[in-house]
Amino acid sequence: MMRLVVLSLLLVSATARNINRRSKDSCASRCGEGLNHNYDCQCNHACVRHGDCCQDYNACNSRKSCKGRCNKAYDHTDPCHCNSKCDHYNNCCQDYHSQCQVSNPGGDFTNQEILQISEEIYSLDINKATENDIHLNLQSHISNSQTGDEIDRAQLRLYAYVNEDVLFSKPTFVKFIALLDNYNRMTGTPEKFTTEQLGEEEAFLNEIMKTPIMNKLYSVLHSKNLYNSVTDFKEDLKSMWFGLYSRSNNILDSSGFEHVFAGEVKRGIVSGFHSWVRFYLAEKNKELNYYSYNYDGPWTNYPEVLATQFEWNGYYKEVGSGFIGSSPEFDFAIYTLCFIAKPNKTCKVSLGGKTMNIQTYTWTKSTYGNRKKYVASSFPLTP
Ligand SMILES: *[C@@H]1O[C@H](CO)[C@@H](O)[C@H](O)[C@H]1NC(C)=O
Repeated sequence: MMRLVVLSLLLVSATARNINRRSKDSCASRCGEGLNHNYDCQCNHACVRHGDCCQDYNACNSRKSCKGRCNKAYDHTDPCHCNSKCDHYNNCCQDYHSQCQVSNPGGDFTNQEILQISEEIYSLDINKATENDIHLNLQSHISNSQTGDEIDRAQLRLYAYVNEDVLFSKPTFVKFIALLDNYNRMTGTPEKFTTEQLGEEEAFLNEIMKTPIMNKLYSVLHSKNLYNSVTDFKEDLKSMWFGLYSRSNNILDSSGFEHVFAGEVKRGIVSGFHSWVRFYLAEKNKELNYYSYNYDGPWTNYPEVLATQFEWNGYYKEVGSGFIGSSPEFDFAIYTLCFIAKPNKTCKVSLGGKTMNIQTYTWTKSTYGNRKKYVASSFPLTP
């Protein structure tokens, strides 16, 4: 009996000391705490509704993110955690993987796995062109040694016909095409985005995340513990592909998306520019003049792979390779898979039983999150 009284006295005095140590009107050490009448104000999300949040309640929200908190030592008052043990204890913040984990070095994917995943992505492309949706007019084939001679060997356009009504009304195409005019192609000229344009990036990512292809890719990367939620994955894709870096004079003039899909001009030549949709639209607008091709892949239906020579408003592209007739989410998924699984290397994929290499490059001069790498480039490596 006596012992019990002493114990409860101790407990009461310990609690009282705790309260005294903590300010009555602060959320320090109290983020997420349930309603507590010992305090003048509250620190959980209900306080917003009840209007009784402590003045420093906003600091609690920033502690739900790993931004700037990667590898922080465990602190039981933190609402969630950002160090390597949080996966084990299942208490990581939502954005732990996208903020804190350095890009996977590739060791976690076997070559066999990449072949299998790419084959599945290929078979899930429900938005690709059918044989009748695109008519190509290839005209002159040249050898690899002739690609630099800048001779226009094609009188006609490469794209004789594209079924725009069907293809370009598909939601992922609509959202993709909306992005293409958001860039200034000249390196050394800063990229500036309006709120509307930033919304287009978000809309594109949201749209492709609805597709079977991107769901497949997410579930593969999730099973490798690279991302723990779709939101986490999407946020990382946004940084990886749309985050700006500088190709010239420390000006934020480029991104992986701009380079690969929209195309750039650097030192007087075309750089990147691997999207067939971009090519077709530029050719249709008479901004692009097709010269010849030096590679035509073995596929008999779409997507097909071509390497072409062309001129874009006076700037020459010596070898521009890309998928033809694929959906935007297909290109995005295959490139992302290779970028994550085999960064800065060749990555052997299998598409309809035929293998080919994708080359990705990581950007080396700046990073995001916890030293994560931006996409510098990605394209089909043609023989
Ligand atoms: C990627 O490859 C390029 C060319 O092979 C090389 O110059 C660069 O240093 C590599 N980057 C990294 C991060 O390994």
